[in-house]
Amino acid sequence: MWKHHAKLERHSLLLVIGILIVVAIGGLVEITPLFWLESTIEKVQGVRPYTPLELAGRDIYVREGCYLCHSQMIRPLRDEVERYGHYSLAAESMYDHPFQWGSKRTGPDLARVGGKYSDSWHKQHLEDPRAVVPESVMPPYKFLAEKELDYHDIQQKLEAMQKVGVPYTADDVKNAAKDVEDQADPFASPKGLQARYGAKVNQRDFDGNPDKVTEMDALIAYLQMLGTLVDFRTYHAEDPRNMR
Ligand code: HEC
Repeated sequence: MWKHHAKLERHSLLLVIGILIVVAIGGLVEITPLFWLESTIEKVQGVRPYTPLELAGRDIYVREGCYLCHSQMIRPLRDEVERYGHYSLAAESMYDHPFQWGSKRTGPDLARVGGKYSDSWHKQHLEDPRAVVPESVMPPYKFLAEKELDYHDIQQKLEAMQKVGVPYTADDVKNAAKDVEDQADPFASPKGLQARYGAKVNQRDFDGNPDKVTEMDALIAYLQMLGTLVDFRTYHAEDPRNMR
C-alpha cells in the first residue's frame, strides 16, 4: 500500500487532488452535523431581546462604527477571562442582527461593560474621552447628548427584528415608542417595561437631561445592559437549570 503512496508523492497533480479529497471529507464531517442539529445555540436563562431604547442605542453604536475599535466577544482564554470576566456565550448574541463580535481591539472589549461604570462616567467619556482617560485615542461623540433620539420608526425596527427571528411579541411592538420614553424616565411607571423585559431592566435618566430623550440616553442604556443579562455567579455551562 505504501508503494502506491509513492506514486502520489511523485505526481504533483495527483497529490493536489488527493489533498482536496481528504480536506473535503474533513470539512463534511465537521459541517454536515450542524444542519441536523435542532439549534446550534443553546438558550440561556436571562438572555432576552433588547428593549426598544437599547435597540436604538445599538443602532447608534453600529452607525458610529464603535465596532471598528471595540470587540464584543471574550474568548475562553485565561488572560481575557481574568481581564474582562466570563467568556462570551453564543446565546448572548443570539438576538444581535448583525452581531458585534468585531475583529479589532483598539479599545477594550465591551461585552461585559454594563455596570462597570456609572452613567455619568459614560456620558463624560463619550463627550470627551480624554477628560476621564488622559491617554485615550477614542474620538469624542459630544453631539450624541444634544441630538434628540429619532424613534418614529421604532415599531418598524422591532418588526424587522421579528422577521429575522427575534421573538418580540405584538405587545412589545405596540408599546415600543412608550417603552423608549418610559425607560429613559425615572418617574414613569416601570410596570409595562418590566412585564415585557424582566424586572432587571434599567430604567433611569441615562444622560442626566430630563428634558428630552437623546441619542446619548439610548447608547448608554445599551452599554449598561451589555453582559449583564446572564447571571454568571450562578451560571455553569453543564447545568441544565440554566437552559430555558
Ligand atoms: C478610534 C478607536 C475608537 C472608537 C471609534 C471608539 N472607541 Fe471606545 N475606546 C477606545 C480606546 C482606545 C479606549 C480605551 C481608553 C479609554 O477608556 O478612553 C476606549 C474605551 C471605551 C470604553 C471604556 C471601556 C472600559 O472597559 O474601560 C467604552 C465604554 C467605549 N470606549 C465606548 C465606545 C463607544 C460607544 C464608541 C462609539 C460611539 C466607541 N467607544 C468608539 C477607542 C475607540
